[in-house]
Amino acid sequence: MMRHALCAAALAGFIACAATAAGKPADQAAPLGKRLFDYHCASCHGTGIGNPGAAMKPGTDALRVKYGGELPALLSERTDLTPETVAYFVRNGVSVMAPYRKTEIDDAQLAALGTWLSRNNPDLKRR
Ligand code: HEC
Repeated sequence: MMRHALCAAALAGFIACAATAAGKPADQAAPLGKRLFDYHCASCHGTGIGNPGAAMKPGTDALRVKYGGELPALLSERTDLTPETVAYFVRNGVSVMAPYRKTEIDDAQLAALGTWLSRNNPDLKRR
């Protein structure tokens, strides 16, 4: 009995240590929408260089060309996005951006993404 209790305590300690080592506390404090963006979208819409030959990541590069500098190439810096716009593109896709199924990004996650990407839109009343 005593032995089991010790094992259980040791196991709990191990799990706690493993969890601390794996997760970065700063990232976990970020809003859900930002964490989802970093996970699903930043590979194309983030900063930094893209595949060999591309100056930027494909989403960032395509939007730089599309708006010719009139809007930020980075989605995370846009001030004109609404949750509806984000939902439209996420569910329908565009160009090399494939649509996301509800099994990949469910409606609650999509809402969080939309909230985060439209957080700087002055036309949206903050509740
Ligand atoms: C495989 C790369 C890729 C991924 C992953 C990706 N996108 Fe895109 N996305 C693009 C490209 C490329 C465009 C621009 C297409 C065009 O109009 O030329 C785009 C366009 C968009 C647009 C339209 C912006 C505008 O003003 O036209 C939105 C909104 C968007 N993406 C949101 C997202 C979100 C949110 C995610 C993550 C859930 C995501 N994208 C993931 C490549 C990607």
